[in-house]
Amino acid sequence: MGALANEIDPREFDSPGYQKDPFPLYKRLRDHHPLFRDRFHNRWLISRYDDVNAAFQDNESFDRALYKVDGPYVFGSSHVFGPNILEYGNSDRHRWLRNIIAGQFVGQGLVSFIPFIEKIAGELLEECMTDGEVELVSRFSNQFPIRVISNILGLPRADEERFVGWYQALIAGLGFGGEHLARGIAARNEMWKYLEPIIEERLKKPGDDLLSKIAIAELDGQRMSMDEVKGFIALLLAAGGDTTDKAIANMWYHMLYTRPDQFEDVKKDPTLWENVFAEMMRYDAVVHVQSRYTTREVEMHGRVIPERSLIILLLGSGNRDERVFANPDTFDIHRTDMHMGRENRSARYKDKLPGHLGFGVGQHFCMGYAMARQEAVIACTRMMEVMKNPRPKFSTHEGISSPNIDSGGFRSPQELWIEFDR
Ligand code: HEM
Repeated sequence: MGALANEIDPREFDSPGYQKDPFPLYKRLRDHHPLFRDRFHNRWLISRYDDVNAAFQDNESFDRALYKVDGPYVFGSSHVFGPNILEYGNSDRHRWLRNIIAGQFVGQGLVSFIPFIEKIAGELLEECMTDGEVELVSRFSNQFPIRVISNILGLPRADEERFVGWYQALIAGLGFGGEHLARGIAARNEMWKYLEPIIEERLKKPGDDLLSKIAIAELDGQRMSMDEVKGFIALLLAAGGDTTDKAIANMWYHMLYTRPDQFEDVKKDPTLWENVFAEMMRYDAVVHVQSRYTTREVEMHGRVIPERSLIILLLGSGNRDERVFANPDTFDIHRTDMHMGRENRSARYKDKLPGHLGFGVGQHFCMGYAMARQEAVIACTRMMEVMKNPRPKFSTHEGISSPNIDSGGFRSPQELWIEFDR
């Protein structure tokens, strides 16, 4: 009877209950099926923190890409972003593409973006914080990161709305196949047509903007091809826009509804938004899932995964692993058993504490990790300056869930009403 209760029917992964609250199923996976063979979806699921972390770091056994760079597959041909660094898997081309541009998103590169982030936050807040109440998702968080990115790229401000539309179609096209993929690819093609003359112009006369820097960047005497530049921009809009907006909404949701007591601490000390960010990335990371393919047979938990199997790394589950975090189902911004500071790709920190898995780990570790944190913290801090005594407009909320199609599968509240004094 007990054993049967722990059996898992893979159709549970497609149920509305799972979309709303995947955590009980994650726990059953971790406790009873740490390596789960899902025959229905033809994939294997890995759910414990240490296993997810190890798979991220094991480039010999797990690859992001199914195809080899020197094989017959034309990269970008069926991917909604076109050729992009995620699709290049663990190849040398991936390393080259990453190295050519990674410096722009950290250190001085990042510092140069801060004035843009502050400016866009200020403008949007002025537009939406007028009435003593605001619906945060549609009026602020959905718009903020995409506007920041298109500004940093130096794209015309008048076209911001078009970018919002394109990136929503790209995101919906990512994981849902069929007509969504077709619509995503159509949006990408439209966006590429729009971008090409701008890129050509920047190649001739580069400015200080990120698009110029990407277009003229050189490594080993080589620049990105036109398609790679366009693919990178598409990835940036989607990876940087759709995730950070949800991070901001999730941070506010948890402060208003999950831990109003700790919200009082943040009001007294706004630097604690940094901790809110880190704990949100653990407790209910925006992105719960990343995929890999095995490049050889892999033995794990006494079973053998065949070569070329699809592997699902459940970051959202690893982040709640009681083998690593005390009281993992409690949202706690004062946690002392997790690294709360800035993340890094090795996931090893001076304080010797484990980090959250929300940005991945290893070769494909999020390139925008520092920028996302900076944007989210600046946005939340500025909002608190404008809103006096922010509080939920409604006493109950249906909570964070994953997706309707337009939200691309990332977890966030659908709407979040806040009341405040002025
Ligand atoms: C809270 C916000 C964000 C979350 C939760 C997030 C999450 C992730 C995750 C989990 C990965 C790893 C993919 C893998 O292992 O296969 C990733 C990769 C990536 N992210 Fe982010 N991301 C965020 C913000 C950003 C921002 C702001 C940017 C850029 C402006 C960005 C750019 C990228 C890029 C380019 C990659 C691919 C890196 C590679 O393949 O080497 N992300 N992100």
